[in-house]
Amino acid sequence: MASITIRNLDETTKQRLRERAARNGRSMEEEVRLLLDGLETSATSPAPADSAAPDRAMPTLVSASTGGGSATIEGFPAAGKRVLLIISGGIAAYKSLDLIRRLVERGVEVRPLMTAAAQEFITPLTAGALAASKVFTDLFDREDEQDVGHIRLARDCDMIVVAPATADLMAKMACGIANDLASTVLLATNKPVLVAPAMNPAMWNHPATRRNVETLRNDGVAFIGPFSGEMAERNEAGKGRMAEPMQIVERIGEMLDTRPKTLKGRRVVVTSGPTHEPIDPVRYIANRSSGKQGHAIAKALADLGAEVILVSGPVGIPDPAGVETVHVQTARDMLKAVETALPADIAVMVAAVADWRSKGEASEKMKKEDGKGPSHLELTENPDILKTIGHHENRPQIVVGFAAETHNVETHARAKLKRKGADWIVANDVSPDSGIGGSAGGVMGGDANRVKIISAEAVEEWPELSKHDVAVRLAARIAAELAKRQSTA
Ligand SMILES: Cc1cc2nc3c(=O)[nH]c(=O)nc-3n(C[C@H](O)[C@H](O)[C@H](O)COP(=O)(O)O)c2cc1C
Repeated sequence: MASITIRNLDETTKQRLRERAARNGRSMEEEVRLLLDGLETSATSPAPADSAAPDRAMPTLVSASTGGGSATIEGFPAAGKRVLLIISGGIAAYKSLDLIRRLVERGVEVRPLMTAAAQEFITPLTAGALAASKVFTDLFDREDEQDVGHIRLARDCDMIVVAPATADLMAKMACGIANDLASTVLLATNKPVLVAPAMNPAMWNHPATRRNVETLRNDGVAFIGPFSGEMAERNEAGKGRMAEPMQIVERIGEMLDTRPKTLKGRRVVVTSGPTHEPIDPVRYIANRSSGKQGHAIAKALADLGAEVILVSGPVGIPDPAGVETVHVQTARDMLKAVETALPADIAVMVAAVADWRSKGEASEKMKKEDGKGPSHLELTENPDILKTIGHHENRPQIVVGFAAETHNVETHARAKLKRKGADWIVANDVSPDSGIGGSAGGVMGGDANRVKIISAEAVEEWPELSKHDVAVRLAARIAAELAKRQSTA
């Protein structure tokens, strides 16, 4: 199936997509998916006579595919939950629009509520279009208040987020003042409240604001930020910048995460990505591993409550939230970092570690010399990280290795299981023509995987899944195995 990366679209196209998604009450990703589905169907069947004239330009947009990754953001712990987002009147209000987008694309239902001052900075129309929701602004709204709507608004959500939170609104909250819709809802709610303050440093440091913050903390209100940095006002810097939208998203995810923490108290070390083995100061030996599978596994284990140390080779993806990431370049650095992370209960060795490195790294860039032909590259073996950990004096209770094979996947994985001293080998077919993910290139760098879990007793075949789903299933499987061993110990 075709795919596009929304952030790579130009601003006008993005805006049209946003409006179309809002009109249809969908997220931008859902809208794209449906359009792509329609595009593929229309390639094989004639379009109906009345096919959506206003959106006729959209397939053109989609056909300008960048070939980038999937638009879906899976596995957000607050997906399906409802957040009441109170936007009060500060300059950072523009960031709350991005916050709405980020939440919506993660499957969160956002209900915006704006103070009168907030409407001086951004319009309810934009917030409503992004959230695909009515925007609440007025305490004395005749329709909403027929059944005392402000109380419903205060209770009919999973949490309330105030972003940005002005000094004024925090003062009202601390004193129990309820003289507009935002402050009344905040006084009437029985849901968790997260506040993201944003203001000039002088306002943040004022004794009155300090007192109010202290009172709110004692009342059980959660805070994120503010952070230090430059202010919107010229030549002003200090503490008062609102947390970035993604930081707020992550905190919301944590606060609404109700998944069982079956690995709480457990320590896990995960490796991910490729290694880079230097040839000279500018060249290196590498492989096509993207780190997507290893990073997803680290995140899935952390989501089950484990303390996760992720040892990552050089990758182009962000560090997962809630995980301690150690960045390394070479196989030797990776082994050192893994050994430093021991003792651990579990080790999941996902990294595609280079088997060989250049023998004797050149200290200067190797030069091409006319008439001399290419220099020979002499290789030497790298340490075997999985084997070292599988036989380590501090061996974790469960050691899982990945086998990236291009042929005879199962036979090679079985041999690897014995040789490396692992409990399971997760075998995946990384041949570029595997067809996995429906795209050329297959597993390496893609978003899908098809794995076999090979243990001494059995081979378990999983269907093709997204790397995220493989990670979630594997984490659950590891947690269950640990619990089983505990109960039989
Ligand atoms: C241009 C401008 C920027 C402002 N920025 C902030 C701000 O970042 N933080 C803040 O606490 N107040 C800020 N204020 C002051 C608030 O808008 C003001 O206190 C207002 O009454 C807040 O109303 P509300 O809390 O109901 O939204 C700003 C005012 C103006 C005119």
